[in-house]
Amino acid sequence: MADQDIQSILREDREFPPADSFVGKARIDAQRYQELCAQAEKDPQEFWANLAREHLHWHKPFKVVLDESDAPNYRWFSDGELNVSYNCLDVHLAERGDKTAIIFEGEPGDVRRLSYRDLHAEVCRFSNGLKALGIVAGDRVVIYMPMVPEAVVAMQACARIGAIHSVVFGGFSANSLRDRIEDAGARLVITADGGHRGGKVVPLKQATDEALASGCETIEKVIVLRRSGEDIPMKDGRDIWWHQAISGQSDRCEPAWLNAEHPLFLLYTSGSTGKPKGIQHACGGYLLNAKLTNLWVFDLQDNDVFWCTADVGWVTGHTYVAYGPLAAGATIVMYEGAPTVPDSGRFWKICQDHQVTVFYTAPTAIRALMKFGDEVPAAYDLSRIRLLGTVGEPINPEAWMWYRRVIGNENCPIVDTWWQTETGAIMITPLPGVTATKPGSCTHPLPGIFADIVDQDGNTVSDPDKGGFLVIRKPWPGMLRTIWGDNQRYLDTYWEKFGRRFYVAGDSARRDKDGYFWIMGRIDDVLNVAGHRLGTMEVESALVAHERVVEAAVVGRPHDIKGESIFAYVVLQGERPVGDEALKLVQELRGWVSKEIGPIARPDDIRFADNLPKTRSGKIMRRLLRTIAKGDEITEDISTLENQAILEQLRGTS
Ligand code: WT7
Repeated sequence: MADQDIQSILREDREFPPADSFVGKARIDAQRYQELCAQAEKDPQEFWANLAREHLHWHKPFKVVLDESDAPNYRWFSDGELNVSYNCLDVHLAERGDKTAIIFEGEPGDVRRLSYRDLHAEVCRFSNGLKALGIVAGDRVVIYMPMVPEAVVAMQACARIGAIHSVVFGGFSANSLRDRIEDAGARLVITADGGHRGGKVVPLKQATDEALASGCETIEKVIVLRRSGEDIPMKDGRDIWWHQAISGQSDRCEPAWLNAEHPLFLLYTSGSTGKPKGIQHACGGYLLNAKLTNLWVFDLQDNDVFWCTADVGWVTGHTYVAYGPLAAGATIVMYEGAPTVPDSGRFWKICQDHQVTVFYTAPTAIRALMKFGDEVPAAYDLSRIRLLGTVGEPINPEAWMWYRRVIGNENCPIVDTWWQTETGAIMITPLPGVTATKPGSCTHPLPGIFADIVDQDGNTVSDPDKGGFLVIRKPWPGMLRTIWGDNQRYLDTYWEKFGRRFYVAGDSARRDKDGYFWIMGRIDDVLNVAGHRLGTMEVESALVAHERVVEAAVVGRPHDIKGESIFAYVVLQGERPVGDEALKLVQELRGWVSKEIGPIARPDDIRFADNLPKTRSGKIMRRLLRTIAKGDEITEDISTLENQAILEQLRGTS
């Protein structure tokens, strides 16, 4: 894509200085920020090494800070040894063993509290259970669970023994689960009978059975947590109840001391082409950035209650639920269900009941909840909230202002945090006690993160408001290490565009006259639906897997709440259906995609055409399809279009 295509239309001049309540009290104040920036500028390796020594417990201290011999496969602290679970749990036992680690609320309203001591004991018991099943360091374990404390226990237990977990979001279908299990070559699945979501039970074990029935040869055992109480079949010799797996196990388990570069987890995410990529993170570097950003960006203090609403199936649920806040010794809230059950006040009721002080969610959730009106949150006491955050997509200034006024009572800083599954932790963000915020801008890179915006030739874009490619100039500890099983794809996707000179995020961005970063969107064919990345290719492959579909093209269309919705153009075998028959097939295909990938990938619109608009070289004219999906006037060059008549079909007018 040419850089002149990256244009910005958004202008925002409002500015909000750091709240009085923060200035002087925040963990990072202006002076500390300056110091950190200066240290990072002077010697980035020394900067990270000092932080790693100060903030992590090393069983064997590292001497090598950054091994660049195989760049861009960077290795951090590569002769050091540590254990992530030890750093999240054991380190707190002496001083805050009785402090609440997790406040859990189920969708039906059940509440459970686990202290650090309780959580440590649960993790140890489950670690011993895993060992008893023969799971050893380096084995892959797939976790397919609802948002319950046991999901965190399972992740932490894997980390404790060195098994590499891959959490698959509970909203993904059996087919998606199977693909991830197979790509990872997992030996074990940990799941539940079902989870509560949207007033229904999500049949996780049933989906697991379906996945395993269609492949997954490497799976030996399935551990099943009893959660929803459904009567489910258990397969002899393969399936084990969670409570049986831990029965009789000791609540102590010596952690495995692992090399800092040992993989901590894989997390699958969409790209523009091909199957989802297994993003691989390493123990030491990941944990360092996870812990630091919880302290710096969320300013976690001893009496804070931090609620990050993300599911553990996404990276946000790894870094700001399962690992980072625990490493920081914080109290977190976990909620199992949907934001609108039993009504649209549920999030605010949870904030009130559990006295949440720091709240982190996605713009799509804010927009959805905003629609119900100010009186919904006004009915709850939100006065304890002192800091708000957003992640996942650009936030529109209107939603930002609402968040600030209605949820933040005009006096909470908002941190709009830019990062990715690949970056491991927050990269560009305001610091609540330092940064004057502007609605819609993620402001500045954190100390030690050398973000820049470059043009097609890799030169820094210095004109204010001119768009370019968002890149990171220097490696950082929490960066991905590779794509599982496909290092070539790692190199091609993130490094080759500018001759391996810097990490290419795949986003376009601009800097305003004050140097503030504004994310403009993806530069590839990746959709951002409700804050989650979906590859157009994945949805297209799902569609063509249906017996009636010959060809499909999928584009994003701007959507009030979800950011983007999925719009699919489909070419069918045989006659193009009309009227009721067309409606019926649309429903069938929507259901089909839902089953193939998961409900988040279900297209909102499907339109049938006799063929798709293509360039002479045979490339689908996606920009044209996007214009048509929006209902805009066509300004693209369509002179090469062979069959002009299909435009009417694509528009839905014939
Ligand atoms: C993509 C990464 C990071 C956890 C959630 C999504 C977009 C993320 C922001 C933000 C504008 C954002 C980018 C990025 N994105 N945060 N604050 N402002 N855009 O993780 O699925 O890996 O997606 O989400 O396009 O590349 P992910």
